[in-house]
Amino acid sequence: MQKPTFYITTPIYYPNSSPHIGTAYTTIAADTVSRYKRMRGYDVWFLTGTDENAQKIARTAEAKGVPPKEYVDEVVDKFQQLWRLLDISNDDFIRTTEERHKVVVQDIFQRLYDQGDIYKSEYEGWYCTPCETFWTENKLNDGKCPNPDCGREVELLKEESYFFKMSKYQDQLLQHIESHPDFIQPVARRNEMISFVRGGLEDLCVSRTTFKWGIPVPFNPKHVVYVWLDALINYVSALGWGQEDAKFKKYWPAVHLMGKDIVRFHAVIWPIILLALGVELPRTVYGHGWFLSREGGKISKSRGNVQDAFELIRLYGSDGIRYFLLKEMQAGSDGYYSEDALVERINSDLANDYGNLLSRTTAMIEKYRQGVVPAVVNPSPLDAEISVLAAAAKKEVEDCLDRLDFSNALVAIWRFIGRVNKYVDESAPWTLAKNPALDAQLDTVLYTLAEALRIVTILCSPFMPGVPARVWAQLGITAQPELHTWEAAAWGGFGPGVKINRGEALFPRIEEQKEGVAETDKVSQTVASPSQEAEPSAPAEISIEDFARLDLRVGKIIAAEKVEKADKLLKLEVELGQERRTVVSGIAKHYAPEELVGKSVVLVANLKPVKLRGILSQGMILAASHEGKLEVLTVSQDLPGGARVK
Ligand code: MSP
Repeated sequence: MQKPTFYITTPIYYPNSSPHIGTAYTTIAADTVSRYKRMRGYDVWFLTGTDENAQKIARTAEAKGVPPKEYVDEVVDKFQQLWRLLDISNDDFIRTTEERHKVVVQDIFQRLYDQGDIYKSEYEGWYCTPCETFWTENKLNDGKCPNPDCGREVELLKEESYFFKMSKYQDQLLQHIESHPDFIQPVARRNEMISFVRGGLEDLCVSRTTFKWGIPVPFNPKHVVYVWLDALINYVSALGWGQEDAKFKKYWPAVHLMGKDIVRFHAVIWPIILLALGVELPRTVYGHGWFLSREGGKISKSRGNVQDAFELIRLYGSDGIRYFLLKEMQAGSDGYYSEDALVERINSDLANDYGNLLSRTTAMIEKYRQGVVPAVVNPSPLDAEISVLAAAAKKEVEDCLDRLDFSNALVAIWRFIGRVNKYVDESAPWTLAKNPALDAQLDTVLYTLAEALRIVTILCSPFMPGVPARVWAQLGITAQPELHTWEAAAWGGFGPGVKINRGEALFPRIEEQKEGVAETDKVSQTVASPSQEAEPSAPAEISIEDFARLDLRVGKIIAAEKVEKADKLLKLEVELGQERRTVVSGIAKHYAPEELVGKSVVLVANLKPVKLRGILSQGMILAASHEGKLEVLTVSQDLPGGARVK
């Protein structure tokens, strides 16, 4: 039987600066839906890409003195790298500088012109380059861009332009919006759009003549196509519309996911282009909120409040970031982002609630049943309740994901995890284990825990794709993919007799040092501290295997600076081959920062990260100390950063 199809898109991003948490959100959300739909048996097409023909890109490139294509190639590469690191499972990545896109844009422009929907006139009005938007004088706010997130200078344009007859299709669009309640979501955006269209649409300027960067109008190459018209077309050009269009026939219409700021383009301009072309309208245009910083204000490059997304992934991992973002943005509202909130969520929801449940469960199965999942003999009403709640959680996740409500889907999973953790305490397996007469009861509890974890992990897999494989390995069911599917998230699938493999913590806690801890204690976490020089009592012997657990590496110090208000601490940037780490080290009394730059030191690379004075320190550099003197261990420059020390 043919699978049902599902087509989902993100906006195509402007590659004028590196992606950040705000821009990553839409892609993570679209990825989560894609993974979920695939698990539900859909043939999914997930498209993302980059919007390259913008005037602001040409300007940025010019300011940097590089040709625009060269500039975008570099930034696009960053987007693609970031999506890989975030486990984004897109099926295609469209760049609007590609030929396959250009031909469709030109074809559509020509068709609209031929049928009289595009006409030549003169544009006189204002343009906001950061927003790539035309504004009439009366819309301006104190002479500036009226977009509440922008407010920047606008430029006066007076140039020959082609116009698209939006007004002609206004009533048809309104009728469609009103008769399709799911077309624009959530409902607040739908209402905004209805009143916007009712207010009357003006014809849209769709070409520019004052610069060359862009797709030339096919019948008048003095003009380039307005970047928003060009960009919106990506959703069909990527499917080969009007060309070899089997893909288009198969997957269209789309679900378009985006931030609230660009809903108007997708819910008004885009459908009108499609109406004019006689193409079916998108299934859904969904506008989520923004990520705001704690101080208020959208997270955006221009506000200077973005954190390097690559650095965040390196510190906290893709799954933790995905979880945080999806949980924090409630459907229909904005979400707040801060690094502290991210760490807090990872520690409480992931490390404590989920990770701990896995480690408790596997520890008990190991201790009480030699690592073998027992069979259920006689479930109690409490066990039965857990199985019913598992089914309810699954149903709730499905309902939430069907309406793109990621946050509440995670709330439902975590409500279940919370209940299971409580069940452990209520059924007190450690007490049951003391009485052989209660063996069967203990079997049931242990089975219930393993089964609950299996189901939780299936439900989590669209959100955190890096997690399941690690849980399957610990539960001993890696080789049983039939137990990992969405349908398999039904109680009783786990066959008894499976041998588990207890492993590492699923989500290691990120340690934040508590205020009030003596500085020397803090320092001792990062480097042998001179204040601890008294000969330690001889440490216990260790085996070679114990030693092998240390990951010692050569690290090249590429930057060093003092940590504010901490006279013993230095913040070091250390390069380990491809990787860069931040290490906070208690050596400020012995080295000036500039003395360290260029040194190749030895780093304990697998030390649990610890936060010192708000800085996450990832590793510890080795130093020898004696009678108040301290020297970091160095190796020759011939050894590359990242080389193993054994
Ligand atoms: N190139 C256009 C889209 C064309 S689609 C045919 C564009 N690009 S963008 O790079 O500026 O923004 C892309 C998306 O990122 C938008 O959906 C925007 O809402 C989203 N976000 C940018 N900053 C954001 C936050 N701080 N929070 C959430 N989403 C944010 O617009």
